[in-house]
Amino acid sequence: MEEARGSLEVLNKVFDNMFLKSSIFRNRDALRHDYIPNHLPHRENEIKYVGEVVAPLLLHNKASNLFIYGKPGTGKTAVIRFVFNALSKKANELRANIKCVLVNSRLEGSEYRILASISRQIGLSIPFTGLATAEVFRRIVNHIKANNLYLLVALDEIDVIVKKEGENLLYELSRINENFSSHRVSFIGISNEITFKQILDPRILSTLSEEELVFKPYSSDELFDILMERAREAFHNGVCDPSVIRYIAALSASEHGDARRALDLLRVSAETAERGGKREITVECVQEALRKIERDQVNEVIRTLPIQSKVLLISILKNLRNPSAQHTSGEIYTEYRSLVTNLGLESLTDRRLSSLLNELESAGIISSKIVNMGRYGRTKKYSLSVPQAHIVEALKEGDLLNGLLE
Ligand SMILES: Nc1ncnc2c1ncn2[C@@H]1O[C@H](COP(=O)(O)OP(=O)(O)O)[C@@H](O)[C@H]1O
Ligand SMILES: [Mg+2]
Repeated sequence: MEEARGSLEVLNKVFDNMFLKSSIFRNRDALRHDYIPNHLPHRENEIKYVGEVVAPLLLHNKASNLFIYGKPGTGKTAVIRFVFNALSKKANELRANIKCVLVNSRLEGSEYRILASISRQIGLSIPFTGLATAEVFRRIVNHIKANNLYLLVALDEIDVIVKKEGENLLYELSRINENFSSHRVSFIGISNEITFKQILDPRILSTLSEEELVFKPYSSDELFDILMERAREAFHNGVCDPSVIRYIAALSASEHGDARRALDLLRVSAETAERGGKREITVECVQEALRKIERDQVNEVIRTLPIQSKVLLISILKNLRNPSAQHTSGEIYTEYRSLVTNLGLESLTDRRLSSLLNELESAGIISSKIVNMGRYGRTKKYSLSVPQAHIVEALKEGDLLNGLLE
């Protein structure tokens, strides 16, 4: 009881602190992922290009379909949102009957849900499940006819759904205008994967990518401007020195050029300063934030690994702790076999294990190099790419494997 009251007090204090004025943040929301800044530095050309492609819609003329490629965090979604907002506003002024629809294919997760989201956004309600896709299509077509609509549909992260469910939806959508006497629906496809083109059926590709636009990763200077603008919005004066922003921008540009991750680093750095009771974000705060972000990422990857991969990872840890081991795949497999037998799990083939090792490697948890073992031929040797303590910490969150790590 005493303890319960103690906990409640602690919790109430946490809640009360929410109302205290932050010494760091003026507007926390300015660093959120869904915040739409009213200015997007270094994307003026892209905004203009997309604007030129969609402008004919204002006269109810056909707009070319456009395909946008670019690595994550290069501003693709932000630019489309920005253009859609402006286009909708202009259309209202001109009384043009345009509807802009933005659907995130990854978040929707299935073809059906993508169609349901398009429907909802044009004012047509569709049950969550139950209808055949063809029926949803028919209703959308009828709704467009009945309301005399002109649609601009942006399919964001479209590569994800094509990989998951194939090209059917894109194929159907690319032919939707055959249902109307004049051109009614234009598309903007967006892909984080530059190589997506290569997997698409050439017929679909030629319809959907009449125009193409590639977004490049941001340079250090560009990230600096983006972060500076957000920092002005997010922080009180004097909290974040430009030299700290320079540091974050340079780090982010050399690693990835991803504005989302750069903004995350700025936010976590600010939270670190806030939690430490500081009045200023320092380079040390950034370094601590980097470690925290890396730890969280490793945690997330490891926590969600399938059990066999977890056992394999533990085998690697055990092997690395053995001073006389060479850390070869063969040794790791032997370690793995003794563990799975003890656990009563199925033992996977070497081939399967080798592909699991590749997965751990592409997730950035381990790395390998090929070494020549003299008369034993060539083999791979493994090492960890992140601190051992992080891996152990993450593995320990799953109860089953606790005992194995001792
Ligand atoms: N030029 C820019 N100016 C300001 N913020 C930007 C800019 N580019 C990207 N961002 C911000 O970075 C984050 C990621 O951008 P986003 O458009 O979602 O990238 P993508 O869709 O290419 O993955 C968003 O929070 C966005 O607001
Ligand atoms: Mg995006």
